[in-house]
Amino acid sequence: MLDGRRILVTGGSSGIGRALVLAYASHRASVFAVARREEALRAVAEAAPPGRVTGVAADVASEPGRRAVATAVDHAGGALDVVVHAAGALGPVGPAAHLAHYPADAWDRVLAINLSAVHLLHQRLAGFLERGRRPALIGVSSTVGRRGRGGWGAYAVSKHALEGWLQVLADEWGERGRVYSVNPGATRTPMRAEAVPGEDPAALPSPEEITPLFLRLAHPDAPEPSGIQLEARSWLGRDPWEGLPL
Ligand SMILES: NC(=O)c1ccc[n+]([C@@H]2O[C@H](COP(=O)([O-])OP(=O)(O)OC[C@H]3O[C@@H](n4cnc5c(N)ncnc54)[C@H](OP(=O)(O)O)[C@@H]3O)[C@@H](O)[C@H]2O)c1
Repeated sequence: MLDGRRILVTGGSSGIGRALVLAYASHRASVFAVARREEALRAVAEAAPPGRVTGVAADVASEPGRRAVATAVDHAGGALDVVVHAAGALGPVGPAAHLAHYPADAWDRVLAINLSAVHLLHQRLAGFLERGRRPALIGVSSTVGRRGRGGWGAYAVSKHALEGWLQVLADEWGERGRVYSVNPGATRTPMRAEAVPGEDPAALPSPEEITPLFLRLAHPDAPEPSGIQLEARSWLGRDPWEGLPL
C-alpha cells in the first residue's frame, strides 16, 4: 500500500521509530532511518526487506548531523513523501525534576532534541517534501504534551511547543501538505521504562501494535485533515487502510 513512498523516520534505531521503519518498509516504502547509533541502524536495516531501509547515522540536534541527513536524501533523488519526527529525549522526571530545580543543562538538551531539531531539520527537508506526492509530516507528541503534568519538566514543555510548531506549519502549508500530531500513548519502549520504572511493560502496547495510524497517515489518500491531533491508541488492532482506495 505504500509502494513508491519515500519516508524518513528520525529515532529509527529504537522503540517507536524502529517499529515505524520496519512497518513502512514491510509495506514497500523506501525508508531512511535516522539516529545516532550506527550499529543499531544496521540491525534495523537487516531486519527489513532487503534494500528498503537506508540508515543515516546522525545527531539531529547538531548542524553537521542535520546536514548529513539532507545529503543522504539528496543523493537518493532529493524527494520525500513523509517525514516522521520520532527522535526524542526524556530528561529528568519525577519530584527531583520539578521546575523550581530542573537542571539547566537537561532543559537545553531536551528542548534541543524534541523541539529545535524538528524545526531545524525541517528547514533542511522542506524542499524535498515539496517534491513529494501529497506529502505528510508527522510529529510524535505525548499525553503530557497536550496537558502538562508535574514532574515531566522539559519533556512536557517541549511536546507542548512541538504541538504549537505543528499547528503553525499546518497553517503555512495549507493545501500543499498534511501535518499531524500523533500521541502514541504509553508504549513498551526503553524511554517509557526509564520514565515509569515501576510499571509492568507487559501491560503496555508494543511499538509494533501502535503502527496502524502511522501507516495510514503515510498513505497519499489518507482522509484525515491536516493540522489535527490524533491518538495512535484509537487505531490499535485496526486495518490501517480502512476506507482507502485499494
Ligand atoms: N514510549 C512511550 O510511551 C511514548 C509516549 C509518548 C510519546 N513518545 C515519544 O515517542 C518518540 C519515540 O520514543 P520511544 O519511546 O520509542 O523512545 P526510545 O526507544 O528511547 O527511542 C528514542 C529514539 O530517539 C533517537 N534519538 C535520541 N536523541 C537523538 C538525537 N540527538 N539524534 C538522533 N536520534 C536521536 C534514539 O536513537 P539514538 O540513541 O541511536 O540516537 C532512539 O532511536 C519520542 O518522541 C517520545 O517522546 C513515547
